[in-house]
Amino acid sequence: MFKLLGSSALFFLGCQKAIPLQEKRKSSLGPPILFAQISDTHFGYPDTSEEELLKLIAQINKIKPSFVIHTGDIAHFDYVPEWEKFREVFQSLQVPLYTIPGNHDTGSFPNIKSLALWQKHMGEEKFSFIFSDLAIIGIDLTPFWQFDWEKYDEQQIVRRKTLAWLLQELKKADKCKARFVFGHFPIYLTSLEDRDYSCAINERKLRIEIIDTLIKGNCDAYFCGHTHFGWGNSLKHSNGKTIPQFATTALSYPCLINELEEHSSLKEKNHLGWNLWKYYSEKRVLEYDFMALEKSPKTIIFPRD
Ligand SMILES: [Fe+2]
Repeated sequence: MFKLLGSSALFFLGCQKAIPLQEKRKSSLGPPILFAQISDTHFGYPDTSEEELLKLIAQINKIKPSFVIHTGDIAHFDYVPEWEKFREVFQSLQVPLYTIPGNHDTGSFPNIKSLALWQKHMGEEKFSFIFSDLAIIGIDLTPFWQFDWEKYDEQQIVRRKTLAWLLQELKKADKCKARFVFGHFPIYLTSLEDRDYSCAINERKLRIEIIDTLIKGNCDAYFCGHTHFGWGNSLKHSNGKTIPQFATTALSYPCLINELEEHSSLKEKNHLGWNLWKYYSEKRVLEYDFMALEKSPKTIIFPRD
């Protein structure tokens, strides 16, 4: 399994090994495309600090990445006023911001109504664009997470549509040097077989369908949030191919999942923060810096039932 090495790691796309970053090696890679990934702001939750978020925005404005992606759970309890607060706080962000919903935005059992509410206030639930020679695609995975068995077939139509759109966008980006996909949930935590019902996509069959689509579309890396601390592994396909999967830390209440503890640095486990990603196109190298918020709540909450 691929392991992230602390708050700065170098990852060659297509390989399964993270290599510690060395300045000498870095200088030969040329200038990177910078982008920020933020996640799980949970507006409305007591641990979400507007003051800290404003500092984060100022920091991003100073670094000037090409774009920022929020991988869901913008709100916590009450969608509309919390989304509005998010928009108000983030209006000072000076780079393009792309968002996708998390389970706290459209509910554990999303339906046409909850999706329409998101679209009305937040815009599309998906995005796709090409920056330089890098394809960036965001999808709404909330209909894949948990489901209402009685409405399984009905929801399957939505899931099929999402995956068909994802494949179409990946294929359109076939000539790009790399294709990165963003969703809210990890596809799985440790293996296709793991029986985790809150931290990743629940059903094995759906995990396989998503990984199949990513592999068919030549996706180079999958990025998510949801688990509230940073870790990474590889999604394995039955044909032997793998795709690196990275979860970024939350901007509200830190959590810890025992079986993933070894894949996260101590710094990330105890601090809220975000990832500054650096993609070196020429050599297809991906690096990240974990950017901790100054003040983080000390309590680590174990998110299981
Ligand atoms: Fe969350």
